[in-house]
Amino acid sequence: MAGYERWLATRNGTDNARPPMFLPFKLRELELANRVVVSPMAQYCARDGMPDDWHLVHYGHRAMGGAGLLYTEMTCVSPEGRITPGCTGLWNEAQRDAWRRIVDFVHERTPAKFCLQLGHSGRKGSTQLGWEKIDHPLPADNWPIVSASPIPYLEGVSETPQELSRADMDKVCAEFVHATHLGLRAGFDMLELHMAHGYLLASFLSPLTNQRPDEYGGDIHGRLRFPLEVLKAVRAAWPGGKPLSVRISATDWADGGLSDEDLLLSVRAFKEEGVDLIDVSTGQTVAWQRPVYGRMYQAPFADKVRNEIGIATLAVGNIYDPDHVNSIIAAGRADLCAIARPHLANPAWTLEAAAEQGYPDQWWPKQYLAGKHQLERNLQRAAQIAAAPLNMDEAS
Ligand SMILES: Cc1cc2nc3c(=O)[nH]c(=O)nc-3n(C[C@H](O)[C@H](O)[C@H](O)COP(=O)(O)O)c2cc1C
Repeated sequence: MAGYERWLATRNGTDNARPPMFLPFKLRELELANRVVVSPMAQYCARDGMPDDWHLVHYGHRAMGGAGLLYTEMTCVSPEGRITPGCTGLWNEAQRDAWRRIVDFVHERTPAKFCLQLGHSGRKGSTQLGWEKIDHPLPADNWPIVSASPIPYLEGVSETPQELSRADMDKVCAEFVHATHLGLRAGFDMLELHMAHGYLLASFLSPLTNQRPDEYGGDIHGRLRFPLEVLKAVRAAWPGGKPLSVRISATDWADGGLSDEDLLLSVRAFKEEGVDLIDVSTGQTVAWQRPVYGRMYQAPFADKVRNEIGIATLAVGNIYDPDHVNSIIAAGRADLCAIARPHLANPAWTLEAAAEQGYPDQWWPKQYLAGKHQLERNLQRAAQIAAAPLNMDEAS
């Protein structure tokens, strides 16, 4: 193990061997201190798209918790592009300034980097908050929704979306570019386009949600046309030194969904248009999906994309133990690991993982150093007790 960690460290440009999750990583000019990412997680409590004190504390605390990279929740490019009335947005200057305050806190007080996830809800918009009837229409004040094709998400329940017209495509593309400019001025280090989970851009990619007869439907080349148009426009508006990622659903977990060939062809096209990282999620395209859950269950898709196309990947999905991260990174199955739900229970997931593994060089807030020393001592003592042979006299 020690030999392998030394070899891996050298490959990653350092002589300082360490558990793989603490190796640095570089995307364009962005340098990350480690391989742990706080995955995008909607907070469903913005008003008129405005992040507020909740978001400052939520993101601030997770940035203090040691992960190298932090994602915003899906931040919507227009009011009608929101999933719920509680989603954050980035279509005006007040929202830009509210985000700026949070980004500044993260940069001034922590070494974490901050990625803005931009999206449009498509046919899954105008729905209830995450802790209400998720994916179900609002009880009142629904707004009109759009998608690649006029197919409702929940048959007989959801609103039927309008098929996106060419004029709508121009409007949506311009909204993504406007949000990109605002995100740049808010100070974000990185940008992600949400093309997963059945939202607007994803609805073009999957044959289950895109049944258009025009040049934006049909085979994967047609289905990629609009997502690629948005990607090109956003890449052109986002500085060359800053990385761009795309979140995809690598499979729809449903018959007739995205094929492996379509997946690889799409990722190759994204790479050619200047995408630096693929954030590899799955499913949520159709309500009748049949996912196969388990530990690290989406990592095989991150592995496939990374090693067949030759692009950096972010693995996500039921990665909850530091050893999951170490093994994924050490085996070259992904370059980064995103942790979502465990970060809700424990914002300091990375600090704790470092103490547990006796890794001394993890950054901690100075204000919390007394807690670091005690945690390290206690964990070391617990490990010694666990490793000691059982004394039968004491046991009896
Ligand atoms: C409360 C909550 C909100 C989420 N919101 C988003 C989101 O805004 N954008 C997104 O791409 N994924 C979102 N996700 C999905 C997570 O980023 C992640 O892919 C998923 O939870 C699996 O990771 P986990 O097993 O570590 O929780 C959300 C997940 C949770 C639990």
